Amino acid sequence: MEKRILQIRDGILFQHPYVVVFVLAMSFIVMDPFELSPVGGHDFRPVKNEIAPYQQVMDSWPWDNRSRLGLGSLEFKDEIFGPESLEFDSWGRGPYAGLADGRIVRWMGNDAGWETFALVSCNWSEKLCAQTKDSTTKKQWKLESKCGRPLGLRFDRKNGNLYIADAYYGLLVVGPEGGLATPLATHADGKPILFANDLDIHHNGSIFFTDTSNRYNRVDHFFILLEGEATGRLLRYDPPTKTTHVVLNGLAFPNGVQLSKDQSFLLYTETTNCRIMKYFLKGPKSGTTETVANLPGFPDNIRITEKGDFWVAIDCCRTTTQEVFIHNPWLRSVYFRLPIPMRYLARMVGMRMYTMISLFNGDGEILDVLDDKKGVVMKLVSEVKEANGKLWIGTVAHNHIATLPYPLENH
Ligand SMILES: *[C@@H]1O[C@H](CO)[C@@H](O)[C@H](O)[C@H]1NC(C)=O
Ligand SMILES: *[C@@H]1O[C@H](CO)[C@@H](O)[C@H](O)[C@H]1NC(C)=O
Ligand SMILES: *[C@@H]1O[C@H](CO)[C@@H](O)[C@H](O)[C@H]1NC(C)=O
Repeated sequence: MEKRILQIRDGILFQHPYVVVFVLAMSFIVMDPFELSPVGGHDFRPVKNEIAPYQQVMDSWPWDNRSRLGLGSLEFKDEIFGPESLEFDSWGRGPYAGLADGRIVRWMGNDAGWETFALVSCNWSEKLCAQTKDSTTKKQWKLESKCGRPLGLRFDRKNGNLYIADAYYGLLVVGPEGGLATPLATHADGKPILFANDLDIHHNGSIFFTDTSNRYNRVDHFFILLEGEATGRLLRYDPPTKTTHVVLNGLAFPNGVQLSKDQSFLLYTETTNCRIMKYFLKGPKSGTTETVANLPGFPDNIRITEKGDFWVAIDCCRTTTQEVFIHNPWLRSVYFRLPIPMRYLARMVGMRMYTMISLFNGDGEILDVLDDKKGVVMKLVSEVKEANGKLWIGTVAHNHIATLPYPLENH
């Protein structure tokens, strides 16, 4: 059978010289010798992912058919740039936010406005890093490695210290008065922490945090998704010994981290695989992982509520085309080597992003889903933090914070 197909193919090739020319031209394009394709210059190696079947996830998802997230309002427009993670301190001050220009800022009320609270790099300068509204455009990307990009923020309620996961500077800490943060972890198991993304603090002081990839940093995060590569890690920093340990490795875009209220497990999101994972810290399953929820889109940070449930920010949604790509790494190899800008390639595969947030309990049962199909509130949500009777919604790519009173009354 194999042989016959080959013979037929050879026959066609020899009888039709145009086919030969076409095949040669395509191979040339796909080899991309001038590095014109979106993946030009990268060692692009697509692999298969462990993702739940598309139809199964989409059919069972309780869609919000009222776009209730659209009821939110945008605050601090053009005052705050790409606030991925939001936090409040023990005195209720805040929000604190990590910005695209590398600063961690805090809201000090209507009179004082926003003030710079902390920096992650001694090389930060207003001249180099503060691009105001342009901070969330490509312009900032080449500066990020100098200016920093704080993605995860958590206060240690015992001492008021703020822990920071920075995409370029690893895990850092700054005292309650702010200032220049002190690096705690830049390597784990001999390998550099290339892309620290989020963190949470255990009651015993240990810090669990994610290192999204060992191959790509934040500027190139799109390649992690396109390749499906799984070199991300869950790490733990132990303050008493000042040591960093690899808890889990081989993860596909590990992103948000959240410990449970009773500290018996933690949840982390795996963005590429569109799912929430549970890692047990206590009991008979201690040290093992389980999938707790498969999502219709790409999750970012995860944050606990006062009751102990979990809000997840999701960029929506998976598409049928993506499903074909996931199962055929070779197809991604060819497609993304076409010498066409990424935004067109992405549009052609039908990627249209909108926002969804979802509330889960610790067993992965869905308690609520709010979406914004019309993109009224925001397109790239990164975190949902419940505080003072409101949801505070961060975004990595826009210049505002969205808020929404919750629970929603009469909607
Ligand atoms: C929207 O969802 C509600 C409750 O989930 C349901 O009762 C209603 O029929 C749905 N409406 C549409 C238009 O699908
Ligand atoms: C600051 O810049 C200098 C010179 O480029 C570099 O050697 C140093 O590592 C940088 N420090 C930090 C914290 O990035
Ligand atoms: C804190 O608890 C975690 C989870 O059980 C454990 O892995 C870690 O070693 C503990 N840290 C300290 C400092 O005891």
